[in-house]
Amino acid sequence: MTARPADPVLSALTLEQKAALTSGADFWHTEAVPAAGVPSALVADGPHGLRKQPEDGDHLGLGNSIPATCFPPAVALACSWDPALVRRVGAALGAEAASERVSVLLGPGVNIKRSPLCGRNFEYYSEDPFLTGRLGAAFVDGVQSRGVGTSLKHFAANNQETDRMRVSAEVDERTLREIYLAAFEHVVTTAKPTTVMSAYNKLNGVYATEHSRLLTEILRGEWGFDGAVVSDWGAVADRVASLAGGTDLQMPPDGSDDDVVAAVRAGRLDEAVLDQAVRRLLGVLERTARGRAGGAAEYDRDAHHALAHEAALSGAVLLKNADGVLPLAEQGPGRIAVIGEFARTPRYQGAGSSQVVPTRLDDALAAVERIAGADRIVFEPGFRLDGVPDAGLVADAVRCAAACETAVLFLGLPAAFESEGFDRADILLPADQQALLAAVHAANPRTVVVLSNGGVVSVADWESHAAAVLEGWLLGQAGGSALADLLFGRANPAGHLTETIPLRLQDVPSYLHFPGGEGQVVYGEGVFVGYRGYDTAQQDVAYPFGHGLSYTEFDLSALNLAETGPNRFTATFTVTNTGPVAGAVVPQVYVHDVVASVARPEQELKGFARVHLAPGESTVVRVGLDERAFAYWSTREDRWKVEAGIAEIRVGLSSRDVRLREQVRLPGDGIGPVLDASSTLDEWLDDGIAAAVLDAAGGPGLKAVLAGMSPGMRRAVGAMPMRALAVFGLGFTGDSLPRLLDAYTEARNLA
Ligand code: BGC
Repeated sequence: MTARPADPVLSALTLEQKAALTSGADFWHTEAVPAAGVPSALVADGPHGLRKQPEDGDHLGLGNSIPATCFPPAVALACSWDPALVRRVGAALGAEAASERVSVLLGPGVNIKRSPLCGRNFEYYSEDPFLTGRLGAAFVDGVQSRGVGTSLKHFAANNQETDRMRVSAEVDERTLREIYLAAFEHVVTTAKPTTVMSAYNKLNGVYATEHSRLLTEILRGEWGFDGAVVSDWGAVADRVASLAGGTDLQMPPDGSDDDVVAAVRAGRLDEAVLDQAVRRLLGVLERTARGRAGGAAEYDRDAHHALAHEAALSGAVLLKNADGVLPLAEQGPGRIAVIGEFARTPRYQGAGSSQVVPTRLDDALAAVERIAGADRIVFEPGFRLDGVPDAGLVADAVRCAAACETAVLFLGLPAAFESEGFDRADILLPADQQALLAAVHAANPRTVVVLSNGGVVSVADWESHAAAVLEGWLLGQAGGSALADLLFGRANPAGHLTETIPLRLQDVPSYLHFPGGEGQVVYGEGVFVGYRGYDTAQQDVAYPFGHGLSYTEFDLSALNLAETGPNRFTATFTVTNTGPVAGAVVPQVYVHDVVASVARPEQELKGFARVHLAPGESTVVRVGLDERAFAYWSTREDRWKVEAGIAEIRVGLSSRDVRLREQVRLPGDGIGPVLDASSTLDEWLDDGIAAAVLDAAGGPGLKAVLAGMSPGMRRAVGAMPMRALAVFGLGFTGDSLPRLLDAYTEARNLA
């Protein structure tokens, strides 16, 4: 059944039917009204694979679901820094959803990784909103290219699992705009997701599902979102308030339709609000009709597995490679010890609502044996997945490592350590695995560590025991074979970190403010999240944002900045593969504001590119920087603001490996704040119109007095409000101040 155009349908519906449409029919279906031609839509998780449950549903990852390709979860996919790849993965997910007649796929998750402790970080892309926005938009674009809708989630400030269904995220406006809304804004304005999912938590005291400023003023008013807002599962605390606030669809149903009908009848809810919600939901049905109608077509499982493999290759990050211990030789007399249960029992996705049943599962042990020959490989599990120390397993692993040329240890976080629904207490690699590594390294210093983890683990305690570290995150169903290809150099690592690996948990900028208590979490670190915090505080880190090694070397040169308009530039630079093998690299463009009137991060990512180069090959990369690249959110003026001044453009291979830099002059956006008697003398002198008025009124006297002051006194006087200065009679007095203000208002109106 295809949906009929919205308004005729709407007028055919009774109040009861309209109320019913704004709540699900069951766990995964929306309500249908067959007589009015309104079909039911099936929705399903999720971000890295289709989780369509056959019958009874749950959103906790407890029940089963039909087999689907398990692509690398966001934590790994993002490290590709490759929107084109993310788009292809999205399109494949869209095809799988359409094949199961799923109308809306519940993803992507674009919440910012505020703390490495968040139990759900594996479902999110980055600590940086610019990168998150680009990847999220590519995902939406890909899924929706198949006629299947998406649900951009979790809107907004859902950055922890602790108390997630009640906690109020206390976030100041600038931090909200620059860090926590920016990725949503980019995805909404550029990729037009069919739905947005309102989060469980409260934002500044109001449930996100009821937050009309967020859902109505900002999302719809400012960003022009014309889709429907769907609640997170079980997030609605008050059905009528959530409808009034802008949540159009409650999922799953809770039997509160009568409350809505009663509220309309009693005049507590404007029927127009309900009509609007129904209209938006009918719009979603229209936009997803193609997927439902053309659906049920088979997809190519092998091709999707191959894409999952390609994505896994792109997402693993080579953190360290001392003395070129990697890649391993495919052939040779030396035997290789493969140690660690994860080599045989891969940890490849996270737990909770995003958990899928893969169509197949590659393990690294089998893949390594295929490449190097089973007779060269000796396997020892080394540790137990339940974390109970086992001296016998360690002794066997040490014996095995001592007898081999190289030891490859597959370590990481067992599944029980992280999940949707709770946060971690630390970022340590389990103690039994650290002890195993130390013992193996003592027996054989040619030790390579391969990590499997959804949230960041610290490496400082143990990395001296590893010649090389390959961060494999959770790589999806083809992760095992991808890791083997990377270890042997059949593929060249090119993943780059999308979040900083700190030396210690205590160094994390949000450390003192996470996860809050008594129902509140104050985002006290403000905009200084992730590398914005570490770089500004010049804090040492284990591996910086953007870091990732390769089996080849890259050179960056010839940065040029061409002005393309006011506060707009195109940066061009050359990337050269100077090493022996082909490989990909991600040069990153950061903007540093040299002088700013508010505290700004040391630098912020504003552009990037992923380039693949043959040995000796060069290419010119072009990155556009628009006004927004230089703007901060002015709380005082309630808008994005570009100040006049100087910005430094930096190009590097991580936030700490800047290779090129160049300064540009910004004219600013020319819009100053409206000044008044409370504005300071310096604010008046910095404003062209106000300065001219001041000059005309009391110019010579004021100038002479200021010129005669000591530097310290000049600063103190400059920071005083005009009304206070008037008392001191610096060229104007309490009597003349009103005239000055009138003259300023007049001049401003004329300008
Ligand atoms: C999660 C969402 C998910 C929903 C449906 C919730 O618990 O927060 O991300 O889409 O369940 O499974």
